[in-house]
Amino acid sequence: MQSKFQSYSGLSTDPAVSSGHVSVRDDAIAVQWVFPGSALTCIAKVPKVLGRDKNCATPLVGRETSRRHAEVYLDGPVPLIRDLQSRNGVFVNGIKVSLAALKFQDIVRLGEWIGIVIPFDAKIDFTFRSIAPAWHGGGRLASAIEPARRVAKTDLPITIEGETGTGKEGLARAVHAWSERVGNFVGVNCATIQPELAEATLFGHRKGAFTGADRAAIGYFRAASGGTLLLDEIVELPLAVQAKLLRALEEKEVVPVGETDPVRIDVRVLAATQEPLRQAVRERRFRPDLMARLEGLTVVLPPLRDRREDIAPLLLEFLRELNGGKPPDVDHKFAEQLLLYDWPLNVRELYRLARQLLALHSSEPVLRRSLLPPRIREAGKLPDEPEQAPTRSATQDEEAFNKLVSALRAHAGNVARAATALGISRARAYRLLDARPDFEVSKLRPEGERQ
Ligand SMILES: Nc1ncnc2c1ncn2[C@@H]1O[C@H](COP(=O)(O)OP(=O)(O)OP(=O)(O)O)[C@@H](O)[C@H]1O
Ligand SMILES: [Mg+2]
Repeated sequence: MQSKFQSYSGLSTDPAVSSGHVSVRDDAIAVQWVFPGSALTCIAKVPKVLGRDKNCATPLVGRETSRRHAEVYLDGPVPLIRDLQSRNGVFVNGIKVSLAALKFQDIVRLGEWIGIVIPFDAKIDFTFRSIAPAWHGGGRLASAIEPARRVAKTDLPITIEGETGTGKEGLARAVHAWSERVGNFVGVNCATIQPELAEATLFGHRKGAFTGADRAAIGYFRAASGGTLLLDEIVELPLAVQAKLLRALEEKEVVPVGETDPVRIDVRVLAATQEPLRQAVRERRFRPDLMARLEGLTVVLPPLRDRREDIAPLLLEFLRELNGGKPPDVDHKFAEQLLLYDWPLNVRELYRLARQLLALHSSEPVLRRSLLPPRIREAGKLPDEPEQAPTRSATQDEEAFNKLVSALRAHAGNVARAATALGISRARAYRLLDARPDFEVSKLRPEGERQ
């Protein structure tokens, strides 16, 4: 089945949750369905059936989805998914399973429906939506940036932390827009400032102040007067310049190079960094007093691999924007593959993929997995999965693990007894458990026996 972005019209929440039949704990777990539409299934002790049938707890309408496809439930603290003999199977992280324990950020596929296992918080709106000018995201990103929106109209400095491509500059621009300050938004990449010219670059200089200064310049601070100055990659600023920056921020004035009189500045300062400032302070590359000045508020932008629920809707949004409002159709296995990839360059990499797909495959009626670049197409293969002639396939391991989970339940978490019951060695049982560090066998043991 294919989908267009238009199908993301609001999030239909599991009726049992919205009508209050289930008491949802703050740490509850849910499956957020992100493709080809959106829905939310909270996982509770009472099993919930997922499938095409309209009487299912979460109806997932699609040709490849069985009427009663799978059920999800909590077994003690462990969320499980069980295939209800569906025609096309249940997949967790790209692997077919009959019964599997779930953990956060696992990718579940039933027919053409793809969902992510997320922590459920009744206070968060999970809908993927526009959350800032030219910016989209789901509940997790919206919650991360909410404090920045709230303080945008004040002059509190904000430090934005995040890996490359997570949207630090985009958020800085959004804060400027929300602040309604009339001056300009000015960004300066501290990594590209020449150390010997750093002061002049930031604070300006008089004509003839130094060799090569054949005309005066106002510098970045004054260019952002009445507006917002983003000090990007701030940890790259030389220590000597950090001292001057601290003074400028404290006094709210700068002294241009070659001048003696300070100039008042009215600038909202934002800092962006890939590396946490604290780490640079610990390594004595960054002044703690400057960090204290800049950290009025710190916003950490989560990498895309920690909010996989945003991947497919974001790509569809980019495809729509770049293709004049008409995104191409997308196959569900293509969408699943996107979610299996880790996106080391984050949203920028996703945006570039959208451009690349449209440039190379604009004549394709449907975007399929085979059109993805190899690094994405190959993602999600288990590291120990042999390319050729597998001796024991990942699916077999998965089945063995699922049987082990059942046996462990029957034997109160006793690995030796579970292994004997299954007729496998204890070493094999531990190897299967080692491969799934998310599964905590100790939780199956009686209270006193847990470490
Ligand atoms: N939530 C989002 N919605 C839409 N587009 C986004 C979002 N986040 C990032 N982008 C896009 O991703 C790209 C990278 O964003 P941005 O330049 O803000 O990242 P960055 O964190 O500053 O990266 P770097 O550390 O490499 O400078 C831009 O094209 C931006 O428009
Ligand atoms: Mg940037």
